[in-house]
Amino acid sequence: MKLSSIAAALSLGLLSGAVNAEIIHTKVAILGRAQNVKIGTNSTIELGCNWVQGLGTNPINLLRQKYNLKTAVTHYDDLTFIDEHGKKVNGSARNNEFSERYSKLEDMATQRAKDNQVDFSGRTGMSLAGWFPKSPMDDAIEYFGYDWEMGETPEVSSSTFSTLNGLASYSTDFGPDSDGDLMNIDPRGFRYIFLQEAARVFKPNDKRLKLKTKVKTVEYDKNKVTIYTDKDTIIADYAISTFSVGVLQHRDVQWKPEMPDWKLEGIFGFHLATYTKIFLSFPTQFWDNTQYTLYANPTTRGLYSVWQNMNAPGFFPQGTKDNIFMVTVTQDYAYRVESMTDAQVQAELMDVLRSMYGKNIPEPNAIVFPRWHSDPLFRGSYSNWPIGELDQHHENMVAPLNNRVFFSGEAMSKRYYGFLQGAWITGGQVATKVNQCIKSKCPVSTYYPKLYNAKAQGSIVKREVVV
Ligand SMILES: *[C@@H]1O[C@H](CO)[C@@H](O)[C@H](O)[C@H]1NC(C)=O
Ligand SMILES: *[C@@H]1O[C@H](CO)[C@@H](O)[C@H](O)[C@H]1NC(C)=O
Repeated sequence: MKLSSIAAALSLGLLSGAVNAEIIHTKVAILGRAQNVKIGTNSTIELGCNWVQGLGTNPINLLRQKYNLKTAVTHYDDLTFIDEHGKKVNGSARNNEFSERYSKLEDMATQRAKDNQVDFSGRTGMSLAGWFPKSPMDDAIEYFGYDWEMGETPEVSSSTFSTLNGLASYSTDFGPDSDGDLMNIDPRGFRYIFLQEAARVFKPNDKRLKLKTKVKTVEYDKNKVTIYTDKDTIIADYAISTFSVGVLQHRDVQWKPEMPDWKLEGIFGFHLATYTKIFLSFPTQFWDNTQYTLYANPTTRGLYSVWQNMNAPGFFPQGTKDNIFMVTVTQDYAYRVESMTDAQVQAELMDVLRSMYGKNIPEPNAIVFPRWHSDPLFRGSYSNWPIGELDQHHENMVAPLNNRVFFSGEAMSKRYYGFLQGAWITGGQVATKVNQCIKSKCPVSTYYPKLYNAKAQGSIVKREVVV
């Protein structure tokens, strides 16, 4: 449940640096994955980014305060457990155990990062920390604690980078009060704060902003950048790409010349997770009043396991016609529902809900979910650092092309990838760089033409095993 990026901030940084630039963005204007819709009679739900994650001086938290966004405090332990037989059980002992083991993983990862040891996967880390899931409920607990956060399984995720990433936002970078998550429930939508910031720069119908325009080709050389869109051609001194890493991976945009191999390797090795919230609106509330309900799916690890009560105390009002229950799917489960019709997904979810609550529950009057992965403008929700991507790969992914095309967006933030603050902060950083290019000379960027295995002594000297 990390964020999704927005392109807005990024390009804005450039403009507020008083550069005369044109901003191109596709059909969703400047808001990227900050999108909200109505469901039921009168409720506003977020299809993309939904949480302020990391409080304190996190710039997204400061924007929340500046615009008085209505939010609710997330309590992850305000939780009901329903087992694979549909029986309510007390899963808190195992849930606490998971949290303790996960803290142990974080301690190990932090130490290993300090010692410059190689990365290890989420699964390896959880196993080293002593967590071994043994039941469908354990799987649900693990899915909630891991996949539901990273957007992908522990098998494919990095332990080192995800630990540094989480600690940066929640404990090290934004001050002593940074540990917390606020869910946006403002009827103006989360995007309101970005629209307001954009309004500081753009006038209504501003000609510099090209809406409903698709970028087809980016051509770059030592002296300029030429952008071919489906409507026109723009020649510029510099360009800032805010394409999602998924769009870069899917080759939806043509690059002339093709990007160098060292950069492509960095891009192709990274992951854009797909995190899909499915909202159902019911005439009555038949689920528990806790913020979350965990269901131990008997056959498939974590599938339809994490349900969120949008009418929990402090969230949407209770006793109205809008009773909203939301379930999240990630990765392959998300791709699967994207390929199904809304009606098919609803039927499948109703089967699950009847296993949880019995046969006599009402049908929903609405179902809403985004299809981020199939959408060529997005190709996913937010990035996740996979095992196998080195930090040098990441630097290669971020490195500019010929000091003419620069890259920003949440995935380009080594520290805050996956979070809104990553999008916001890399936008500011890249804007500063481009400003420097314009005013004097581009700053030096690093990249690694070839990456080699680290051969420390230990990996080549045979050692006797002492038992
Ligand atoms: C709709 O929701 C808004 C914001 O939550 C509230 O102020 C308004 O009174 C609601 N309108 C109706 C008709 O329920
Ligand atoms: C669940 O079990 C824990 C101990 O594992 C206990 O502290 C807690 O009170 C129990 N909760 C309920 C609702 O029974």
